[in-house]
Amino acid sequence: MVSVVIGTQWGDEGKGRIVDLLSENADFAVRFNGGNNAGHTIQVSGKKYPFHLIPSGILHPKTTAVIGNGVVLDLEVLTSEIKVLEDDGINLKDRFFISERCHLILPYHKALDLAYENARGEGKLGTTARGIGPAYSDKVSYNGIRVYELIRWALFVDKFSFQTKIKNKILKTFDVPEIDIKKELKKFAGFRKIILPYVTDTFALLRKALKDNKKILMEGAQAVMLDLDFAAYPYATASNTIPGAINAGAGIPSQKIDRVIGVVKAYTSKVGSGPFPTELTDEIGERIRDIGKEYGTTTGRPRRIGWLDLEAVKFACEVSGITEIVITKIDILSGVKKIKVGLGYKLDGKNITYSSSGYEELFKVSPVYKEFSGWSEDISGVRKFPDLPKNCQAYIKFIEKFLGVKISIVSVGPQREEYIILQ
Ligand code: GDP
Ligand code: IMO
Ligand code: MG
Repeated sequence: MVSVVIGTQWGDEGKGRIVDLLSENADFAVRFNGGNNAGHTIQVSGKKYPFHLIPSGILHPKTTAVIGNGVVLDLEVLTSEIKVLEDDGINLKDRFFISERCHLILPYHKALDLAYENARGEGKLGTTARGIGPAYSDKVSYNGIRVYELIRWALFVDKFSFQTKIKNKILKTFDVPEIDIKKELKKFAGFRKIILPYVTDTFALLRKALKDNKKILMEGAQAVMLDLDFAAYPYATASNTIPGAINAGAGIPSQKIDRVIGVVKAYTSKVGSGPFPTELTDEIGERIRDIGKEYGTTTGRPRRIGWLDLEAVKFACEVSGITEIVITKIDILSGVKKIKVGLGYKLDGKNITYSSSGYEELFKVSPVYKEFSGWSEDISGVRKFPDLPKNCQAYIKFIEKFLGVKISIVSVGPQREEYIILQ
């Protein structure tokens, strides 16, 4: 049984919170894409855990957490995440594994990410500056360095020195300080010692899990609208975020995937630049940002806020083969008098789909809205669908009908127990 949780919008839908919920019954929780540009926040018994690399399933003691080969690793972030969990008394030994094939985010990747962003000036993309794009581009141009080399230290020293010398020349053209090879090698020798016990052949581990009929939960990072191929490129992230990436990023054959769970936030948020047709730049947007605490887990940046964009979510469902939907953060809409939902786009008076638009069109489209009457009650304590305010029920039922995909869970708060099961 393989299930996958993916974001259907522009990230931060609450994937981590849903993975935490579902991994109570999972034997394995697996990351397959992205890096520490992801920020997945989980709240258990009032305590907050912001995960960037370690799969969110780790908080369930019987779940084994795996970082698959498709993930790019910043070892500074990974080692500090390991430390935070260990200090918290969470055992990682024999239940946390990292693929040898993971590519490393190296200091020059972070420096290059920033240097390119600064050079773009007004046209900056708003990346997380975590070195994601440069790390993946080195991977596809055969200049990457993996955990494999790190383990074989002499190979790492050789490749790291060679790459840093070249990257330093590029950094110089940006007028950016160069990377000190000796200093960095010392740091990496330290990281190596910490991560070595967790490195394994994760393909073999997951293949055996499949053979033993174990329950595997795949944790998507980012979201469909940031997918390298299907986003409004270049307003994308550098990895594929759709379920197709699971085969390449963890070695699990696509036909083994039974459930594709799309997480839909009851409104939209986006971090970084790029088109955002249903964006709210008024006080309603500000209110949702404040009540929804919409500030990045990774960068702390205020997230841009907008109405739910069902044209985008419909596309996400179609391209990802979503079999069920989980709605999150609907509690944040309590008190909004009139709630709008985007049903499609118009450009120069004509209908235009998301899939046939690039960023130039998406910057100009006007959404077609349907308006709903809101509700004022605090719904975070509701545990049964019929107990929700009628207008809230109508909003949820409309989403289900429009998308033609069943809604299985509605999350009404950030805490583990704050949700309603529908089917
Ligand atoms: P992810 O990147 O998709 O895992 O989402 P983030 O963790 O970056 O952002 C979602 C935020 O909303 C986190 O702070 C969660 O604790 C919180 N959250 C998730 N679901 C709900 C919900 O249903 N209601 C409320 N109020 N907060 C939620
Ligand atoms: P989670 O998993 C929201 C966005 C960045 C930027 C673009 C490219 O928490 O949902 P990158 O650093 O990846 O090269 O930046 O992608 N982005 C995210 N936005 N949530 C995320 O992850 C994101 N990961 C990347 O803001 O617009
Ligand atoms: Mg996030």
